[in-house]
Amino acid sequence: MQIDVFTLLPHAYAWLCEQRPLAAVLGTELDLRLFNYRETTPLTGGQVDDEPYGGGAGMVLRVDTVAAALDATYGGRPEHRVIALTPQGRPLTQAVVEELATEPAITLLSSRFEGFDDRIVTELASDAISIGPYVLSGGELPAMVLLDAIARRLPGALAEGSGSNESFSDELDGGLEYPHYTRPAEFRGWAVPEVLLSGDHARVEEWRREQSRERSGRMSST
Ligand SMILES: C[S@@+](CC[C@H](N)C(=O)[O-])C[C@H]1O[C@@H](n2cnc3c(N)ncnc32)[C@H](O)[C@@H]1O
Repeated sequence: MQIDVFTLLPHAYAWLCEQRPLAAVLGTELDLRLFNYRETTPLTGGQVDDEPYGGGAGMVLRVDTVAAALDATYGGRPEHRVIALTPQGRPLTQAVVEELATEPAITLLSSRFEGFDDRIVTELASDAISIGPYVLSGGELPAMVLLDAIARRLPGALAEGSGSNESFSDELDGGLEYPHYTRPAEFRGWAVPEVLLSGDHARVEEWRREQSRERSGRMSST
């Protein structure tokens, strides 16, 4: 899979690229390219933004800046999906992650300031995605959230089996994962559920299913 990220802060991604699961798939299953709008902007002095028409606070990422970046990289709008990261987009869920992880290539557009000139979203992007109903200062963290979530779904990213039976997976009918415990079996009087120490795999499996159902029911009623 190829993921191209357009950003004003490409250096922000260095830490993520060194961490698993991204580090495990970079250069094999995943080709990640980072592009800085300032390097291809048609404006002088590296300008990428401008004041909003109609007045108001803040600066807006210009449509010609983003179009120039796409032209320089793809010679126009690419065939693959171009995703604008914006709090006004489609909410990111595990189902969206699974869908994107099957694409051969995607492009992520991030902004800063007051956000995108809306023509970037309507004319240059094919999708708009929000990582949640809150406002962050820039699209770098949303892009990294997507990168990490997609990387986990690529072959070789995780140890065998650890990507299944996770929260929101089909194995758990889209529900939440059951609780985990490790040693010590008792700490400050807080005991691990007896069934997990029983060695009875069928009972453990049954208990985990029940816990998952219970937690998921609680989630949907809050
Ligand atoms: C300060 S925000 C702009 C918010 C915009 N003025 C609004 O009220 O919808 C700057 C940029 O951060 C990114 N961003 C902030 N919150 C986000 C979220 N929840 N999901 C995805 N991207 C987000 C987007 O790229 C956005 O254009």
